[in-house]
Amino acid sequence: MSIAQNTETIAKLRCISCGATPSSAGQDFRCTACGDLLEFFFPEWTSAPLDEGLSHHTSSDPAALKSLWLSRRASLDALDQSGVWRFRELLPHIPAEDAITLREGNTPLYHLPRCAHVTGVENLYAKHQGMNPTASFKDTGMTFAASSARQGKFRWVACASTGNTSASMAAYAARGNMHSLVLIPDGKISWSKLSQALDYGALTCQLRTDFDGCVRILNDLVREKPVCLLNSVNPYRIEGQKTAAIELMEQLAWRPPDHIIVPGGNLGNSSAIGKALLEMLELKLISRLPKLSIIQAQGANPFYRCVHEFGGKKLEPMIAETLATAIRIGHPASWQKALRVLGATGGEVQQVSEIEIAVAKAEIGADGIGCEPASAVTLAGLKKLRRSGFVSAGESVVLILTGHPLKDPDFTIQFHRGDLFSETPATAEAEQAKLLERAPVVLDANLGAVIGALDAAERIQNDES
Ligand code: F0G
Repeated sequence: MSIAQNTETIAKLRCISCGATPSSAGQDFRCTACGDLLEFFFPEWTSAPLDEGLSHHTSSDPAALKSLWLSRRASLDALDQSGVWRFRELLPHIPAEDAITLREGNTPLYHLPRCAHVTGVENLYAKHQGMNPTASFKDTGMTFAASSARQGKFRWVACASTGNTSASMAAYAARGNMHSLVLIPDGKISWSKLSQALDYGALTCQLRTDFDGCVRILNDLVREKPVCLLNSVNPYRIEGQKTAAIELMEQLAWRPPDHIIVPGGNLGNSSAIGKALLEMLELKLISRLPKLSIIQAQGANPFYRCVHEFGGKKLEPMIAETLATAIRIGHPASWQKALRVLGATGGEVQQVSEIEIAVAKAEIGADGIGCEPASAVTLAGLKKLRRSGFVSAGESVVLILTGHPLKDPDFTIQFHRGDLFSETPATAEAEQAKLLERAPVVLDANLGAVIGALDAAERIQNDES
């Protein structure tokens, strides 16, 4: 079986390295000529004026597209209600009858007043992709890639995952009447994510290896068995994930922020958001590009090293270690795509320590929003980008929060109980972490004890303010 391209569509596949344009993709989604990744491109957008290129979808100009997308928000149609399919004019064509949607996307953009105070950046916002149906950003790409699998008549879909992809894939497979196979590293993903995959009915294999080991086995498997690979090397995933950036621009009245900051793991998300920004500029939906910066955990920083040690020339795989298990990835598949959008938008790559991640996560929590650890690298990275002068106080910044706080409650509870870094030397960072801890207090069941706790908390509040 192969992923057929719909002949009606204006989208074509192209290899990111050798430029070959195959008419369909093999099951590993690699270029048969050189083995590199494939991406969709839209030839009519560049070879014809915009109003001709998109004319079979809608009447013409950027303003018409914007108002069409906005009008769909009031529609009762399921695809119009999806924050992904709403933007289908900028996506490859998939017939509506194959579309699997859980009304993904449409995620909120929040101002972060406390984090703004901490960073000195007043115009600081979070686009919370954790507010998706399975509580992570993966749903925007998954609705589209799972639908393409259904269009390709696959019975089985599969992924290697640090947890969120598997939860999302299992849900969409179930909704689309397909079976799902999940390969996850044994013991290194959060229970919440594992429990989702089980609940949605996936065949879940915990392999005695890390994420990168799971990817290797999956790549071999798809060459042997008719299963559709739904990792982010699948270019349909990238197309769906693009819509987060389109929706963000819509929420900002099409006035791009100065900076967008994303976590970097396998680097599919940064590639997708960057691709969307470049396409929106090409289509004159926006008039300038935000700088897209990518933040990695220090213990899982192959892309940071690629850029800062090897000048972008090579990516050296590593054994990754971080408590932010979602981004515990040592050999990111999409590093070349990410490098390209980094260069095109003039973004930076930063790395942050475990304590910096935990502190940032608690600060985002204290803004009444919360996120999972991997998402918090964005705020931790912003602090570094502020210190280096890359981001200035007067600029506007959007952090992409990729996962919901309930994705990893163990991390949160250990942090607030003071157990997460109990072995860590008392550095200034660890002290900062202590100030944010809010451990539960166990009391006798009487009014006096509760009033005592309330008064003590009030005194601490007064001391801090
Ligand atoms: N944040 C969260 C919460 C994630 O789950 C992931 C990746 C990332 C950030 C990094 O995004 O890989 O596109 O650079 N999670 C994948 C998974 C690998 O299997 O769930 P990326």
